[in-house]
Amino acid sequence: MKKNKIEISYEIFDDLSELAMQDAWLLNEAREVTNQAYAPYSNFYVGAVAKLVNGEIVAGSNQENASFPAGLCAERVLLASASVLYPNIAVDTMAISYHSNNGNSKVPISPCGICRQTLREYEDRFKHPIRLILGGMEGKVFIFEKASSLLPLAFTSKDLNQE
Ligand code: THU
Repeated sequence: MKKNKIEISYEIFDDLSELAMQDAWLLNEAREVTNQAYAPYSNFYVGAVAKLVNGEIVAGSNQENASFPAGLCAERVLLASASVLYPNIAVDTMAISYHSNNGNSKVPISPCGICRQTLREYEDRFKHPIRLILGGMEGKVFIFEKASSLLPLAFTSKDLNQE
């Protein structure tokens, strides 16, 4: 028997003012985009904004539905848009923010499990890591150098083609 240990490292900033200019700009945009969310059921408004490797900017916000499971998270709306608008261009950095009618927005949120899986596939597809900048409307900011570090031991296309 052997034991394995998986470690995840990320940076923690006290607030947006500590970020590099480009990163601060992207997080501010994600904060703005929370206002485009359609979230009448959860009242939890998520905004995601990404810079692609060619410098283009793509946004996404959560889109809910009366049939709850039909709702989509901001991250997956963004990736679907990016894939349509710029089908051959990798995503370089994605900032994610939120605000809520039910509480404050001081603690970063991180993508849900399905979004982690989708982010991982996007990284694999373009062979390019997606940096994640996570922050609420105020307070601490986390930066992950690659989204896949949030989904260790992921199920990927390789698993479908095992010898
Ligand atoms: N949501 C996102 O859009 N992204 C996340 O990272 C977490 C959750 C949305 C889904 C749903 O519309 C609402 O937030 C509450 O779960």
